[in-house]
Amino acid sequence: MFKFTPKVHNSIENVIEDKDFLFDLGDCYGSPYNVLIPENIDENIKSFQDVFKQNNVVGKIFYAHKCNKSKAIIKQMLKNNICIDVASLGELIDVVSCGFCGDKIEATGPKNDDFIILGLQHKITFNVDNFSELDTIVKYHKKLGIKGAVKILIRLNNFHSDETKIINKVSRFGFPISEFENVLDFVSEHRDVFNLIGISFHLDTVNMIEKIIAIENCISLFEVMFDRGFEPYVLDIGGGFKLNYIEDKAQWNESISELKEDIATGKNSLTWNGKTFGLSVKNNILHGTLNIYNYYDELVKEKFLDAILQTKLSKYQNRKIAEILSENMIELYIEPGRSLLDNVGFNVAKVNFTKMDAKGNTLVGLDMKRSDLLIGEQEMFVDPILVSQKENQKKDDCGVFFIGNLCMENDMIFNRKVFLETVPQKDDLIVFMNTAGYFMDFDQSTTLGQKVATKVILSKKGNGKYKQYTDENFNPFKE
Ligand SMILES: Cc1ncc(COP(=O)(O)O)c(C=O)c1O
Repeated sequence: MFKFTPKVHNSIENVIEDKDFLFDLGDCYGSPYNVLIPENIDENIKSFQDVFKQNNVVGKIFYAHKCNKSKAIIKQMLKNNICIDVASLGELIDVVSCGFCGDKIEATGPKNDDFIILGLQHKITFNVDNFSELDTIVKYHKKLGIKGAVKILIRLNNFHSDETKIINKVSRFGFPISEFENVLDFVSEHRDVFNLIGISFHLDTVNMIEKIIAIENCISLFEVMFDRGFEPYVLDIGGGFKLNYIEDKAQWNESISELKEDIATGKNSLTWNGKTFGLSVKNNILHGTLNIYNYYDELVKEKFLDAILQTKLSKYQNRKIAEILSENMIELYIEPGRSLLDNVGFNVAKVNFTKMDAKGNTLVGLDMKRSDLLIGEQEMFVDPILVSQKENQKKDDCGVFFIGNLCMENDMIFNRKVFLETVPQKDDLIVFMNTAGYFMDFDQSTTLGQKVATKVILSKKGNGKYKQYTDENFNPFKE
């Protein structure tokens, strides 16, 4: 059976079991709306911190703010006393307004002058991307009369290994590692402006080998920096610690095989208008790779970090990365986004209508658009949950396509069929699980005047009941 049953955290299960509550929220806020339970962040943070402790590594967590716009989430991060990574002027303003001070803020990504100016004024750490940025920091450091040097990390890319062949995708972020000496020259010339605390990378991959190679490359640069008279103490390995969204491994594997077979045989009965997610068929043989996120994964979150730290580097007498870091008194910075928001939120949309297409497929029209749930072309291979107040519903043997509320042919919530127990009907609610990391609001828009989902914050009180807040008004320090 073509199914991608979501894993559901106990606390979230309790909330969605209360159907009347979900429908009341829908009546109050309209469709779509998003629910966040900030307290669920705490266990995610603790599990990363435990891994630092078990490996004797001094570590700092910088939550990557970009993966959710919620201010309630930012405040919950602050309550946990962790740091934060911002990638724009707007994000910097957000986190400062939520109570973060400069010593806990790091700026990554491309930066305009206004972002740099406000960052300098708040004495944040700059994760530097290019020479022009270094120039701009020098310029405004002088103009603003900033006292003391600014903490910087140098972001690097294009790592290599003598032992393992990797296909290096060219990255647009950071300096190629071959430029490192030139960057040090520049920083050396402005020692009054820059306090070089270390180096960093963030790889757009969940491939562990690529991360290990990057770490090995970076460790070797510490000696170079010491030789040049710097006193670096930080290695920042970015984010990308993966997440598991799916309940059952066997079901995931079987459903993916079913999808491939459906495409290979040319039936294309499971996808909308012949979508193949990167696969193609030539002479009855399937080519290419299924271009989707691994929604089922076992080595995720803190386990992925632990596996990295436990990896032995042959270049360093087969010592574990954790040992090399602690012996050399190198602090490890990580920038997790998605993995800190595991089990923290879900999206809800109302069914506007159902209808048949020319091929006899059932289409379920939701009062939401694709960008209320998904990022660009990414397809979420996690089934939603149907919440209905009606009885005697029709059994869903054929699957349905969920379509959005924009006047656009491509506004498909999913480009694949979804098989639920029963066919959704008008006014039912459809709940999309574990969406707080990116899916919830990364691409949100008011296209065609359609609303942006309202965020509802739930916080558990002493009596075990959840109290509701708006995103702006939730403040865990008041609790
Ligand atoms: C520089 C940087 N750090 C951290 C992250 C967070 O990655 P993830 O949410 O996969 O942990 C990103 C995501 O794009 C990023 O660009």
